[in-house]
Amino acid sequence: MSGIQGKVIAITGASSGIGEATAAHLAERGARLVLGARREDRLNTVVDGITARGGAAEGVIVDVTRREDLQRLTDTALDRYGRLDVLVSNAGTMAVSPFDELRQDDWDAMVSTHITGLLNGIGAALPVFRRQRSGQFVNVGSTAAYVVKSPQAVYAATKTAVKVLTEGLRQEAGPDLRVTLVSPGFTHTEGVGKGAGPEVAAALIQQRDEIAMPPSAVASAIGYAIEQPEGVDVGEIAVRPTAQA
Ligand SMILES: NC(=O)c1ccc[n+]([C@@H]2O[C@H](COP(=O)([O-])OP(=O)(O)OC[C@H]3O[C@@H](n4cnc5c(N)ncnc54)[C@H](OP(=O)(O)O)[C@@H]3O)[C@@H](O)[C@H]2O)c1
Repeated sequence: MSGIQGKVIAITGASSGIGEATAAHLAERGARLVLGARREDRLNTVVDGITARGGAAEGVIVDVTRREDLQRLTDTALDRYGRLDVLVSNAGTMAVSPFDELRQDDWDAMVSTHITGLLNGIGAALPVFRRQRSGQFVNVGSTAAYVVKSPQAVYAATKTAVKVLTEGLRQEAGPDLRVTLVSPGFTHTEGVGKGAGPEVAAALIQQRDEIAMPPSAVASAIGYAIEQPEGVDVGEIAVRPTAQA
């Protein structure tokens, strides 16, 4: 199956930002969506918006750090549509801080959301893709994995792990599966600065408002990787604002 039309696509972190924009982009092109996130009200708003425009979407309350939640997300795709073509692992948290602030809960959240969360998605979707003899993982990394900037070391380390896990998975995927890393730069979302200390948050939000690209830019990159013909695996896309160093 080529293109986006008719594909069954699950997206984590679909209640706002890049995930929400990706859901809208793919729905407009005829994908059938299963959308996961924790905030029920925000998720419902995204699902309702898509269905009001004639698209197909279902919401599932998912915390990616819980293995059984990812299982529920992929099971919903199978129950509702009989298959799963793509899992977009996008859920993330950017609660960055200097080490001296010792915000260890935030460090743990970044590790569990980006690393355990990604692994939980692989654990849930890989057996489905193997059975179908087709499927695509799209993992959302970050340009922070390429250029480490203070005070983003923990965030950058977890996104480096996303990059490494994606490459390892690609090597083991074999001829039937596709594995894609999409690494956004500064993107205008509510997640920038969220959970960070007031000083760091203010600096990030100011920079976001000066240079960030819209989340639709990342959604287009994800759509591009998905719409390629079956035998074409877009391994990696970095997409950043021109103004980003
Ligand atoms: N914005 C940027 O500049 C930028 C740059 C590079 C990479 N990224 C990456 O892009 C991804 C999306 O971020 P964004 O910028 O769009 O920020 P965002 O608007 O805050 O979106 C983050 C999404 O992840 C979800 N999420 C967080 N923790 C979760 C968990 N444990 N389980 C399930 N869902 C969870 C949030 O939903 P709930 O709170 O409802 O669960 C939300 O839908 C992240 O992986 C981020 O690291 C962003």
